[in-house]
Amino acid sequence: MSAPLKIAVVGAGGRMGSLARERIVGVGDLELVASLGRGDALRRALEDSGAEVGLDLTAAGQGAAHGMEMLAARVRPVIGTSGVTCEENEALDRAARAVGLGGLVVPNFSLGIWLLSRAVEEAARHYPRVEVIEMHHANKLDAPSGTALNTAERIGRVQGRPAQEVPIHSVRIPGLLSNQEVMFGGEGEVLRLRHETYGLACFGPGILAALRYAAAAEGVERGIEHAFEGPRT
Ligand SMILES: NC(=O)c1ccc[n+]([C@@H]2O[C@H](COP(=O)([O-])OP(=O)(O)OC[C@H]3O[C@@H](n4cnc5c(N)ncnc54)[C@H](OP(=O)(O)O)[C@@H]3O)[C@@H](O)[C@H]2O)c1
Repeated sequence: MSAPLKIAVVGAGGRMGSLARERIVGVGDLELVASLGRGDALRRALEDSGAEVGLDLTAAGQGAAHGMEMLAARVRPVIGTSGVTCEENEALDRAARAVGLGGLVVPNFSLGIWLLSRAVEEAARHYPRVEVIEMHHANKLDAPSGTALNTAERIGRVQGRPAQEVPIHSVRIPGLLSNQEVMFGGEGEVLRLRHETYGLACFGPGILAALRYAAAAEGVERGIEHAFEGPRT
């Protein structure tokens, strides 16, 4: 049996970081070697930990910089923190390839959202009229959600039009966690594809899949599909 993959979690004290730590210690092929927070000097702490893969779950907008720090420490980045732009993702990809490493940027770890996006692409081929409704808890600051923007991009790609032309409606209301519905309208029929979440646990399997994927990744791709569909060899 090979040695467990050594993992460092950055943002370890947060909601997502706590979930990740719990899931990592619950499996035999991963080993939690560092739980890092705001007070730690990231690069030095990563180097000292011996981590092979770093998982960033901190504050929106910090993911790309933390990914660069990880690469500088020769640690493979998995960035779950919101707000990594496509340009930042490309810069991470270039930096990783330059040092022969890989990782993954994951805007959404949920299995259901990945499957929803696959179903949306199929439906978008048949229904030109489509709107996205994303509904989140009142504390979510960004709107539209990154996941909704990604859905619109996928629809635009399939339909050969700019993503901005796909209407997105954002609902922010107490009581909800995170739901997304994609509504397609045809002649005398409506197709609704809907994903609902009831707790952070929905991100657990994706977190583990992303960490395992990163161990063998070349470059830094974007999206949980790379992990669920298996590493590219
Ligand atoms: N990809 C996905 O599927 C997914 C799903 C859910 C959430 N998210 C994203 O994941 C991130 C974390 O979410 P959360 O709900 O866990 O937030 P949270 O509960 O606020 O936790 C964030 C943690 O990161 C720490 N932190 C902040 N800045 C840091 C820094 N510069 N260095 C080290 N640690 C730092 C915080 O420490 P302090 O308490 O000291 O500030 C806190 O412990 C957010 O960006 C969120 O949008 C992604």
